[in-house]
Amino acid sequence: MDSILVTGGKPLRGEIAIAGAKNAALTLMPATLLSDEPLTLTNTPRLSDIKTMTALLQSLGAEVSALADGKVMAMSSHGLNSTRADYEIVRKMRASNLVLGPLLAREGHAIVSLPGGCAIGARPMDIHIAAFEAMGATIDLKDGYLHATTQGGLKGGVVKLRFASVGATENVLMAATLAKGTTIIENAAREPEIVDLATCLRAMGAQIEGDGTSRIEIQGVDRLHGATHPVVTDRIELGTYMLAPVIAGGEVECLGGKLSLVESFVEKLTEAGITVEETDRGLKVRCDGGRPKAVNVTTEPFPGFPTDLQAQMMAMLCFAEGTSVLEEKIFENRFMHAPELIRMGAKIDVHGGTATVHGVEKMKGAPVMATDLRASVSLILAGLAAEGETQVNRVYHLDRGYEHVEEKLGAVGAQIERIKGQ
Ligand code: EPZ
Repeated sequence: MDSILVTGGKPLRGEIAIAGAKNAALTLMPATLLSDEPLTLTNTPRLSDIKTMTALLQSLGAEVSALADGKVMAMSSHGLNSTRADYEIVRKMRASNLVLGPLLAREGHAIVSLPGGCAIGARPMDIHIAAFEAMGATIDLKDGYLHATTQGGLKGGVVKLRFASVGATENVLMAATLAKGTTIIENAAREPEIVDLATCLRAMGAQIEGDGTSRIEIQGVDRLHGATHPVVTDRIELGTYMLAPVIAGGEVECLGGKLSLVESFVEKLTEAGITVEETDRGLKVRCDGGRPKAVNVTTEPFPGFPTDLQAQMMAMLCFAEGTSVLEEKIFENRFMHAPELIRMGAKIDVHGGTATVHGVEKMKGAPVMATDLRASVSLILAGLAAEGETQVNRVYHLDRGYEHVEEKLGAVGAQIERIKGQ
């Protein structure tokens, strides 16, 4: 298994191009199942999760071709020949469950493996199941698979989500485009990736209003046609790289960044004394010398502070002046980066969903273990400022969500390299 070696102490200068959003691409790709005409995505990120979704769609009979060095994804489900998403693929990536809605809408039935838990939590699917039952589907759990059927196809209806689940909103949004009648999603998630999906579906002929708010209305249509759609900028990669100069010092411009994607995150950076400037090319971040100030953070559904930036923010707060309190309200076990940061000299007390971080002036590099996607990148961020070398092991987690992290950080002056695993 590969590892990443970072030597701290080098201030960063230059610009980092932000890729298309992993969490948008992973819901846009299954949308190809909704039409037998080609769907092409541009600005697609080159990530292992995209390869996993590609394999899943191909296992259903769809054609998926990565063009232009992976930045264009040309897809067609004209040859769809299966509605079964196998455990072997689904267990690797929870987002595989996003084929359920499109398959139910297109074929009226689907067999999708339950993803099983992952490092950050149990990740149940009860909200998805309740939503599709409200649309007339029958869903039974057998041998770890959800067996979903409908009598005469999905019917529009009022779908009230008990929690503003991102995946459930996306699954229902896609299914509702072909359901009979009108579907109202209440307490819908409001993430930018939902708006991006709705924009793509409208380009395919869907009738959707209210995306980006907690009430989305969809008029079902008989069929959708093909489209070409650019994947929205990745706000989590953006926030991650905005923190790099804050931790390591210097100034970095994140190309493609937009304030509207990271407002609550930028509010916290500003509160910590960080200067963020919106340029005509992106977002420029500099730390005018000295340590950031401690701030308190609570993760919430969008437009609140994103849970996917919690680990990265913790890495920054380890160096801040003062004590910060982080509350993780979205996932039940998302502080696994804390023990690894403590190995580097951080002072963090974790009690349930609350982590109290007492900022320190200096941390020391150490061998550390990546446990999940965002935890792994938080260890790299900490390594940028820690004294000496930090070796982050099990970076396959990292490659799920970050394109060539060592190249992007190396290009702005970080001393970082990938060590090929045995
Ligand atoms: C999406 O996951 C993202 N993944 C996650 O990003 C992100 O952390 C999460 O949304 C929250 O913003 C993708 O978009 C591919 P949820 P999703 O359904 O849809 C519980 C990353 O690092 N829940 O909003 O699975 C669930 O257990 C990943 O890029 C139920 O209880 O998130 C969690 O505690 C990690 N029952 C909470 O809701 C359900 O049926 C939020 O889950 C569904 C969810």
